Amino acid sequence: MKVMVVGGGGREHAIIKKLKEGHEDLELYALPGNGGIAKDAVCVPIGAKDIPEIVKFAVKEKIDFAVVAPDDPLVLGAVDALEEAGISCFGPRANAAIIEGSKVFSKELMKKYGIPTAAYEVFEDSASALAYLETAPVPAVIKADGLALGKGVVIAETREDAKQAVLSMMEDKVFGDSGSRIVVEEFLTGPEVSVLSFTDGNIVVPMISSMDHKRALDGDRGPNTGGMGTIAPNPFYTPEIAQICMDTILNPTVQAMKAEGRPFRGCLYFGLMLTEKGPKVIEYNCRFGDPEAQVVLPLLESDLLDIMQKVSKGMLREEDVTFKNGASCCVVMASAGYPKSYEKGFEITLPADREDAFVFVAGAKLQDGKLLTSGGRVLGVTALASDLPEAVEKAYETVKQVHFANAYYRKDIGKRGLEGEKQV
Ligand code: AMP
Ligand code: GLY
Repeated sequence: MKVMVVGGGGREHAIIKKLKEGHEDLELYALPGNGGIAKDAVCVPIGAKDIPEIVKFAVKEKIDFAVVAPDDPLVLGAVDALEEAGISCFGPRANAAIIEGSKVFSKELMKKYGIPTAAYEVFEDSASALAYLETAPVPAVIKADGLALGKGVVIAETREDAKQAVLSMMEDKVFGDSGSRIVVEEFLTGPEVSVLSFTDGNIVVPMISSMDHKRALDGDRGPNTGGMGTIAPNPFYTPEIAQICMDTILNPTVQAMKAEGRPFRGCLYFGLMLTEKGPKVIEYNCRFGDPEAQVVLPLLESDLLDIMQKVSKGMLREEDVTFKNGASCCVVMASAGYPKSYEKGFEITLPADREDAFVFVAGAKLQDGKLLTSGGRVLGVTALASDLPEAVEKAYETVKQVHFANAYYRKDIGKRGLEGEKQV
């Protein structure tokens, strides 16, 4: 069977490795993949947003099943185009991927269906947004409507910062058309939880919960990044809270999308905040999170290919998805300077993968047989153990065995979660 995965980061490496488990004969292609993925799949130099070329390749190679992993191709309609060409896919069509592609859409969906989220206002011109901010409470959260490489959210501590954010999004167009509409949102506080789920448009089956560490520096300081590390499960997400989220957020969202004629088939990511007034949605993503996938998928016990095929056919059952006991931790190793400017082209040496500690490669390329750094987030080191403290320790032990010049990583991945373990 021929399977292709669109994308080329650590998340895609984690998907590919999991797809191979129990299917050693699978012919796997990654578009474009990366230097590390090349060990596990045939990498084809087609960009993840180049939908016409992706479809052409899938048809020519007679691909049996496609997994579209990143947000851009999903929002741009890669699944629609592949399905029209007769290729079955895991991933939502564009009319459902809009749940991530437009914050205005997702906020209006939540309002219409009574799904708990931060109070908000939508603005289509800067003058009315600025007028509103004269009296709005601060901190205020300013969000560009469209995709913005994970950078479209500004938490403004002062009115002045809030106005600056509005001007840069709406007048200077730093995110292009993504900032033509903005959402101004109430600032919420509480522990954050990422819940990835499988949904076939009818039922939703949550995966093990996780916690991302988005800021660049220890102690949750510094600029926002794509994510510097993750742990699973998230100690704040107790079974009681999970049940509340299932009843008030996960299931209502999937049913709302169905009722809107936009059934969501794929991985729906719930970014939640556990506030004093109960769990609320911070964001939806139409895909696996990265680096969340790097801790969640290794703990999946059931067959990922089987789940993905059932999702695509609308035939998912709860019992199809089971997780191992235990915990995992992923420490992202980045190029020093990320998320701003950084140097690349340094040789990477990796320890051999073990069953309980391994590396997912994100920003690296192969050149003359050598693996060289080529991106900001270079790789993720994931370790599995029977509990969280041990998983964190093992991940950091493995980090010491990875070498490349200018490597930077956070030293406190899991710290907040371990403190949370004591509180809950
Ligand atoms: P997003 O790009 O939507 O994931 O947002 C980035 C981060 O901004 C989130 O992980 C939160 O930490 C923070 N954030 C987003 N919306 C809010 C909000 N309404 N209140 C407080 N923090 C928020
Ligand atoms: N780690 C956050 C995301 O994938 O959006």
